Amino acid sequence: MNQDTTAIESHSSESRVFEPSQEFVEKARIRSAEEYQKLYRESLDSPDTFWKRETAELVFRTPFSKLHEWKLPHAKWFIGATLNVSESCLDRHLGTARADKAAIIWESEPGESRTLSYAELHRQVVAMSAALRSLGVGKGDRVAIYMGMVPEVVVGMLACARIGAPHTVVFGGFAAESLRDRINDCGAKVVLTQDGALRRGGLVPLKATVDKATLDTPTVEKVVVFRRLGQAQAPIEMKAGRDVDWNELVDSMKGQAEAGAPEIVDAEHPLFILYTSGSTGKPKGVMHTSAGYLAGAHLTSKYVFDLQDKDVYWCTADVGWVTGHSYIVYGPLSNGATCVLYEGAPNAPDWGRFWQLIEKHKVTVLYTAPTAIRAFIRQGTELPEKYDLSSLRLLGSVGEPINPEASVWYYENIGKKRCPVVDTWWQTETGSILLTTLPGAHRMKPGATGLPFFGVVPEVVDQSGARVAPGGGGFLVLKRPWPSMLRTIWGDDERFQRQYYSEIENVYFTGDGAREDSDGYFHVVGRIDDVLNVAGHRIGTAEIESALVSHPAVAEAAAVGRPDDLKGQALVVFVTLKPPHVASEEMKKKLGEHVAQEIGKFARPDVVRFAESLPKTRSGKIMRRLLKDIASGQKTQGDVSTLEDLGVLAKLASDE
Ligand code: PRX
Repeated sequence: MNQDTTAIESHSSESRVFEPSQEFVEKARIRSAEEYQKLYRESLDSPDTFWKRETAELVFRTPFSKLHEWKLPHAKWFIGATLNVSESCLDRHLGTARADKAAIIWESEPGESRTLSYAELHRQVVAMSAALRSLGVGKGDRVAIYMGMVPEVVVGMLACARIGAPHTVVFGGFAAESLRDRINDCGAKVVLTQDGALRRGGLVPLKATVDKATLDTPTVEKVVVFRRLGQAQAPIEMKAGRDVDWNELVDSMKGQAEAGAPEIVDAEHPLFILYTSGSTGKPKGVMHTSAGYLAGAHLTSKYVFDLQDKDVYWCTADVGWVTGHSYIVYGPLSNGATCVLYEGAPNAPDWGRFWQLIEKHKVTVLYTAPTAIRAFIRQGTELPEKYDLSSLRLLGSVGEPINPEASVWYYENIGKKRCPVVDTWWQTETGSILLTTLPGAHRMKPGATGLPFFGVVPEVVDQSGARVAPGGGGFLVLKRPWPSMLRTIWGDDERFQRQYYSEIENVYFTGDGAREDSDGYFHVVGRIDDVLNVAGHRIGTAEIESALVSHPAVAEAAAVGRPDDLKGQALVVFVTLKPPHVASEEMKKKLGEHVAQEIGKFARPDVVRFAESLPKTRSGKIMRRLLKDIASGQKTQGDVSTLEDLGVLAKLASDE
C-alpha cells in the first residue's frame, strides 16, 4: 500500500451548502435529518427490526431465522431465508398495476426506442431461463455475459439469476485477453454475447472478440448470440455445434413456463461474480450472494434515489460495471421503477445527447459520473439550455470524487437549482451505496460525499487503526459488516482476507483516503493503494505494468496516476526498454496499442515516458511516490525521445 495521506489533509475546503427545496422535501420518502437519524440508529441498535421491516416487500420463500452471523472476515446475512432474486425484480410486480408499467425504455444510439413492460420483461426472462436450462446450465454453473447496452443483457442477467447460475458480466470495452482470463477464472460454461454494438456510429465487434477469447477457454460449451445489428452491418461467423442464435433459442422456449420456473436458492447462494482491479496484476472476482446483495441494492435505490412510482430513472453507467448491476438492474427493478437504458456514447451525435434523452423520455432521476459532468462543462451551457430538462427532480453522481465546481455546475445548469445532488460513494466490493446524503433529508455540500447509509459504520483511521479526529486525513474503513458486502474473491479466499481484513485489524479496509468533517460528512478523496481511477474506470497499476512487460521491447515498467482536469486521474507509464529497442514516438504508440490490445482501449496510457532505469529503493522497490511527483510536474514532458535518467532523481530523493 502506498500510504500517502498528505493529499487528503490539504484537500481544499468548500463552504457552499445547498438545502433541498421545500417542494422536494414534501414528497420525499425521508424528509428530515431527524428521520434519517432515527432510522440510522435503529439500523444499528435493532438491526433485526430494521431489516425485517425494510425487506418486507422483497419476495422470500422462507423468511430468515437469524439476521446475520459473522466470523470476520466472513459474514452471512438473512440466514435460513430462501428466495429467487428474479422474483423480487419481476414476479412480484405481476398482478399489480406495475405489470403493464415500463420496466425498461431502451434508446439505441441512432435514436430508436423500445419499451418493455414488467410483464414483457418477465416473459422474456422466463423464456431465456428455459433456454439456458436447455443448454445444460444449472444451479451453480457460471455464465459469462459480454454484451452491449441492450435490453437483452438485462434479460440474460435475470435469467441467470432465475436458474441460480451466477453471471459474470464483462464490460464490452475489455479486450479478448481480459475476457478470456475472466472466463477461465470462473470456469464459465456458456457465454452470452451479441453480434456487435454501436459506439459513436462505429461497430464494436463483440462476437468476434468472443471468438478470439474462446480459442483458449476449455470450459465454454455454448455461445448464445443476440443479433442486434444483423449480418449486413455486423458480419459474424457462427461456429457449428457451439454457437446458438438467441432469438431462435428463446422462440423455441416460449410458453414453457415450467422450464423457466425460478430455482429457489439459499440466501447465501452466489448471485454474480464481477471482476475488478486490485493491487496485483490479476483481477479479483468479487463474489456477491443473493439476499444480502438484493437487500442492499433495493434499499439504497429506494431511499437514495427516492424512487416513486412515477419516476423515470436513468443510470448512465454500463451494465458491465457494478453500478450497472446494482442501479440499472437489481435495485431499480426490485423497486418496480421505469429505467432508461441507453446504448451509445454521451457525444453521439453531439454532447447534447443526454439532455435530448431527458427531454424525450421525461427523465426524473439522473445518475451519472463526474467525468461525464466535467466533459459537459467543457461544452458550455448552450447544449443543456436547448432542451427541456424540467422533468428532472434528482441528480446523482458516482464512481470518483466529484470536485465542488463540477457538483455546483451540475446543480445549477442541469438541476436548475431545483434538484438535490447526491454524491454516492461505494465500490464493486460493497455492492451498494454506503456513503451519501439522502436527498430530502440532508443538505448538500459540494465536494463532500455524505453520511453513512443505514447499517453502515465508517471511520477514518490512521495506520494503527486509531480514529482520526474530524478534519484529519486517514484511511476509510468500515467497522461493521453490511448485507451487500462481497463474500469472497472467487477461488481465492486467502486474497480476500489479506486484501480487506489484514491492513487494519477487524475492520474492512476500503483502500480509499478520506476525512470526516465537523458535521459528520465524509469526504472521500480517492485511492491510497496501487489502484487508479481513470475517468471512473478502476485500473490496477500492476495490471498495466504486467501488460507492458509482456511486450518484447519492455524490460521494466511502472504505472502511476497524475491529476487530470477531465478524467480525475490520467495514466502515466514509465518504461525501460530492452536493448536494442530505442525510445521513439513510434515505440510510444506501439506500447499504447499493446496495452489496449491486452486489457482494453479504456486502459491505454495517456502518457508514455522512457527512462534509462526506474528509481528504486535500496531494497529494490520502485519509488512510486517519486514517479508520481515526476508525472505530475510538467518538466520533460515534451521531450519524448530522450531517455530520462531517473536513477539520479532516486539518488537525490534517498539523500534527502
Ligand atoms: O476510490 C473510490 C471510487 O471508486 C472506487 C470504487 O471503484 P469501483 O469498484 O469500480 O466502483 C465504482 C462504482 C461504485 C472507490 O474505492 N469512488 C466511487 N464512488 C466515489 C468514489 N470516490 C469518491 N467519491 C465517490 N462518490
